[in-house]
Amino acid sequence: MSKGDGSSPLRLVILGGGRMGEALLAGLLKAGWANPAEIAVVETVAGRREQLAKQHPDVVVSADPVAGDGTVVAVKPADVPGACAALRDLGAARVLSVAAGVTVATLEAALGPDVAVVRAMPNTPALIGAGTTAIAPGTVAGSDDLDWAEGILGAVGEVVRVHEGLLDAVTGLSGSGPAYVFLVAEALIEAGVLAGLPRDVSTRLVTGTLLGSARLLAETGEPAEALRAGVTSPGGTTAAGVRVLEQRAVRAAFIDAVAAATERSRELGFTPN
Ligand SMILES: NC(=O)c1ccc[n+]([C@@H]2O[C@H](COP(=O)([O-])OP(=O)(O)OC[C@H]3O[C@@H](n4cnc5c(N)ncnc54)[C@H](OP(=O)(O)O)[C@@H]3O)[C@@H](O)[C@H]2O)c1
Repeated sequence: MSKGDGSSPLRLVILGGGRMGEALLAGLLKAGWANPAEIAVVETVAGRREQLAKQHPDVVVSADPVAGDGTVVAVKPADVPGACAALRDLGAARVLSVAAGVTVATLEAALGPDVAVVRAMPNTPALIGAGTTAIAPGTVAGSDDLDWAEGILGAVGEVVRVHEGLLDAVTGLSGSGPAYVFLVAEALIEAGVLAGLPRDVSTRLVTGTLLGSARLLAETGEPAEALRAGVTSPGGTTAAGVRVLEQRAVRAAFIDAVAAATERSRELGFTPN
């Protein structure tokens, strides 16, 4: 196997063929980022390898780490040091890690001093190509390495660039964010049922409302408060509903939730193993 010196036929090696690894693979193939034969997935579980090979026929599926021009580390956080040690032995030059809570310092210590490391925090909608990911450079990563990482993660959604010190806040906001939204969805669906709507109707109404509101926010570029004011007529129904949410301190609860999740991410980051 080649040593990742630019002569490799493999443009990308994805270490870990789990949910995130496969989502990235599928996104990259769909986007035409590379030909299937230019991407390898390294997966330790034989049954999973069979699934991946069946699902993506021309992609290289391997039990052992192989070298490529760049590598994505998509194994569980506890498996990252071992995976990085293998990459170091293969002479990996450029590594993108999506492992939650594993710091640049840990990655660089395991990979060696000359490896360009980019650390990313994706979220679960990446599994359907609608992720929101923040990336942060390691100490030797340049703008070309960030461009490379953004090109890969852009295949499964939006990418923003931050410095590593902000990744705990990203984890608390957009990393955990889908859970907050699902909790809101659950509550609204129950509220619709209580108000007399059949459960399936309530579910469709809530799902459509969340999707539509997110698109309105994204596509108009209007601030959230302006969009909210736009549906809140004086003395109207929405004003009555919003007053209850403010009385129950829902806004403060979200602020505290993100702060707590950010703090928890900080605590876990010190002990990635
Ligand atoms: N899923 C998400 O939405 C999401 C969001 C943010 C961050 N992440 C991060 O992405 C990483 C992967 O998450 P996931 O949800 O895709 O987990 P997952 O489905 O459990 O995938 C991890 C895969 O990597 C395999 N693996 C473990 N060690 C390996 C090694 N040394 N070489 C090759 N393959 C190895 C695992 O096999 P075994 O079953 O044998 O362990 C498993 O199939 C995690 O670090 C997680 O923190 C995921």
